[in-house]
Amino acid sequence: MFRHHDSPEAVGSAGIVPRHVAIIMDGNGRWARQRLLPRIAGHRKGANAVRATVQACGEAGIEYLTLFAFSSENWRRPADEVSALMELFATAIEQEVSRLHEHGVRFRVAGDRARFEPRLQALIEDAEATTAGNRRMTLTVAANYGGRWDITQAVNRVLAERDRRGTPGGPVDESEIAAHLSLAHAPEPDLFIRTGGETRISNFLLWQLAYTELWFTETLWPDFGASDIQAAVEVFRSRERRFGRTSEQVQDAPPSTTGAAYGHAGHGRTHAQDTGELLARRPAETASKVVGAR
Ligand code: FPP
Repeated sequence: MFRHHDSPEAVGSAGIVPRHVAIIMDGNGRWARQRLLPRIAGHRKGANAVRATVQACGEAGIEYLTLFAFSSENWRRPADEVSALMELFATAIEQEVSRLHEHGVRFRVAGDRARFEPRLQALIEDAEATTAGNRRMTLTVAANYGGRWDITQAVNRVLAERDRRGTPGGPVDESEIAAHLSLAHAPEPDLFIRTGGETRISNFLLWQLAYTELWFTETLWPDFGASDIQAAVEVFRSRERRFGRTSEQVQDAPPSTTGAAYGHAGHGRTHAQDTGELLARRPAETASKVVGAR
């Protein structure tokens, strides 16, 4: 049915399903305010939209979904909203992990979790351990995450490892940084979506969005669902992805002969590895089976 888009090596987008979709879920507060409800009611409704979106992405054959749930800057919100968001996150993990596991979804959290309550940290660790072997889909929730934090911690880990090994310095290269980013388990996003009408990246996945197609919608996150995913994928399929090449090169050259100079830095893996896996995989199998939602 659909082919997956793979990496900066691949060309064109027609007929292709993005392999990795990353979303900034924005607009919960406005959704609530429009209904004269407290902001947390918008977040609760937003949690339902998360469920619907995971299911819709599974049905579309999307293999990696990354959701920005809480930024490093969100601690600045009123204390009661922050604690309500933490509680919602913990409850969602408790209630949904077994269902995710049943449907072959690997659950990961990207971000600095040290600031979370010990109970939430334990829930995250358990959920990650339970679902670690699943590969039908990978759901990553970015929580206490910031793109600048991520790049900085990756560089610091590279340097710390060099120190530990006693190996001399030398310039840090892109692939070393990429391998230490908190999304090193995923390819770079093919499609970025932001709901709620703002057209900013807001310190999300700064490294990984270098070649990602961007799509913004006025829809507030609690109203987001399967039809929006379909609309975004349609737009994605109409885009020409050039990765620095000319349009003529993209049109003329078969994927196997183009772009060898472009690194796929997002996950520290080679294009050949990915392509081999892609050929072995049957995307249609992933459709319809993934992620039950209420
Ligand atoms: C942005 O809307 C939304 C958030 C900061 C929180 C996102 C959280 C959820 C969707 C709930 C649970 C998440 C998971 C992963 C279970 P906003 O509050 O900034 O909205 P506004 O711009 O309209 O004020």
